[in-house]
Amino acid sequence: MVEFSLPQNSVVKKGKTYKAVAGATNIRNFEVYRWDPDSGENPRIDVFEIDMDHCGPMVLDAILKIKNEIDSSLTFRRSCREGVCGSCAMTINGKNTLACTKAISDYKNTIKIFPLPHMAVVKDLVADMSHFFEQYASIKPWLTNDTEAPEKERLQSKEERAKLDGLYECVLCACCSTSCPSYWWNGDKYLGPAILLQAYRWLADSRDTNDQERLDELNESFKLYRCHTIMNCTDACPKGLNPAKAIAEIKKQLVQREHT
Ligand code: SF4
Ligand code: SF4
Ligand code: FES
Repeated sequence: MVEFSLPQNSVVKKGKTYKAVAGATNIRNFEVYRWDPDSGENPRIDVFEIDMDHCGPMVLDAILKIKNEIDSSLTFRRSCREGVCGSCAMTINGKNTLACTKAISDYKNTIKIFPLPHMAVVKDLVADMSHFFEQYASIKPWLTNDTEAPEKERLQSKEERAKLDGLYECVLCACCSTSCPSYWWNGDKYLGPAILLQAYRWLADSRDTNDQERLDELNESFKLYRCHTIMNCTDACPKGLNPAKAIAEIKKQLVQREHT
């Protein structure tokens, strides 16, 4: 029987434990993945005991407290702290989500924090998003319209505008793509749910006139058809969006085009 084992330098080891300050009575434990490429050391899990009487309510608050008061070398992304920039995406207790919109009280016991899965790690909780954003650029995520520019703006009816609901809210956090098994195995060629939802966002926009070209680009076995409707993406989205439905809509448009 074939046996698989991880290379020695990728085995995650036990790290340091940082005890809560003396006298703290309301303590929650946070286990945090740490890896510093410059150290030459294996990844490790550090344990931080946090005094919840002096910490904000969200997981990001605890991470910020760790960085500000306990270990300033902890590395992560964040900006808006209200679920609109998409930068604090990470895996919390096994599920991809935004740390700033996830309440600590939603979890019982220890909270385990890892970088997004199946992405190269830059450092600690920072995943390498370069390929993801290259894929985003590939779908031309901007309005293209070949008709003459109007004097003021390109208007939409209320109904046309409503077609963008459930699409424009995407914050490109990649929680969906990094929970998709097809993206894990074929992420080099498969665009994944986040980028396909964004692609559909422009197909659904009444002001964009390049649907045919956009569909031509997507109509390829790996870019689009690696989606097997497993639905992990929709389950993962912290904004409550439905990338699997957007992917199905693209496929539907391609079928309809073939039969017209
Ligand atoms: S529905 Fe498609 S995109 Fe979503 S997780 Fe499944 S395979 Fe991935
Ligand atoms: S669809 Fe949801 S999970 Fe996916 S990138 Fe957009 S906001 Fe994040
Ligand atoms: S910090 Fe912006 S989404 Fe969490």
